[in-house]
Amino acid sequence: MDKALLSKTAAAMVAKGKGLLAADESSGTCETRFKSVGVECTEENRRAYRGLLFTTPGVEQFLSGVILFDETIRQKTNDGVPFPDYLAKKGILPGIKVDAGAKDMALHPGEKVTEGLDGLPKRLAEYFKLGARFAKWRAVITIGEGIPSHACLYANAHALARYAAACNEASIVPIIEPEVLLDGNHTAERSEEVHEATLRACYAALAAYNVEPEYVILKASMCVSGKNNPRQAGVDEVAERTVRVLRRTVPAAQPGVVFLSGGQSDEAATAHLNAMASMKGLPWPLTFSYSRALQNPPLKAWKGQAGNIGAAQKAFRHRAQMNGLAAQGKWRAELEKQAA
Ligand code: 13P
Repeated sequence: MDKALLSKTAAAMVAKGKGLLAADESSGTCETRFKSVGVECTEENRRAYRGLLFTTPGVEQFLSGVILFDETIRQKTNDGVPFPDYLAKKGILPGIKVDAGAKDMALHPGEKVTEGLDGLPKRLAEYFKLGARFAKWRAVITIGEGIPSHACLYANAHALARYAAACNEASIVPIIEPEVLLDGNHTAERSEEVHEATLRACYAALAAYNVEPEYVILKASMCVSGKNNPRQAGVDEVAERTVRVLRRTVPAAQPGVVFLSGGQSDEAATAHLNAMASMKGLPWPLTFSYSRALQNPPLKAWKGQAGNIGAAQKAFRHRAQMNGLAAQGKWRAELEKQAA
């Protein structure tokens, strides 16, 4: 366990004005996304699309790292350079999703537990050799009638902690991602309660497994209203609730917190981040680790056509830049400046 490397990696992940691109969609998720723009989900199309994103000129100003999928970390640019080497040369840290997906939890209808601990140390050693310096594990927490259960929070928190411990031993910074889904008709208040219970369980488990907060990054969801609730909490309410939960649960020693977009619109994800990052006196930097909120516009612009690559890269760079500004609380002012 190289603590100096872990500290250096964690600090770089949350460097000022930069955030992470989550490009670790499984082939199944990729299929859904590609289908929405009429692109066949072949290995070559996945490579071409990811290559388009990674080779976007200037995007390294706004991206500290990219989360890759097992297939992607082994793929190459059009010029034959392995993606992790290409990214590292550009000053972007390669990361890797290592969980094996959220599966139905036995005796817990409607709840999931994430698998992937078996053989993890061996896989981490290989990923480190391939260039990965951080990893991601996503747990899924669903809000509904009588759920999440204590057992679901407990099982997922312990899996996250065991994963984090294995990462640290391999000198890889673990992103722990307990995503509280926005599916349902719950209120933002209920989301806040569930976030608090979830994060408490996670940090208790991390401490129980001797994982030091200095070498962990949290990937958090935001306390938004359920997407089927007709009353949607406004930007400031979401920001206040989310930051309150984080302050109550996340150790100040942790190097940073990144957010997922979770199905929010591109602009809502940017506005929420901007509102939170504008708050004074936070103990950790906040930034983005978005998939959909960064990729929706470039995916729509690309549509699988080589002739659209320039337009797709422009759309991607724009979203990355806007979120880079939001991570510094400077996005709203920039919009106003542009409108004036
Ligand atoms: P979204 O930003 O689309 O939620 O994806 C982030 C992610 O990495 C989910 O695991």
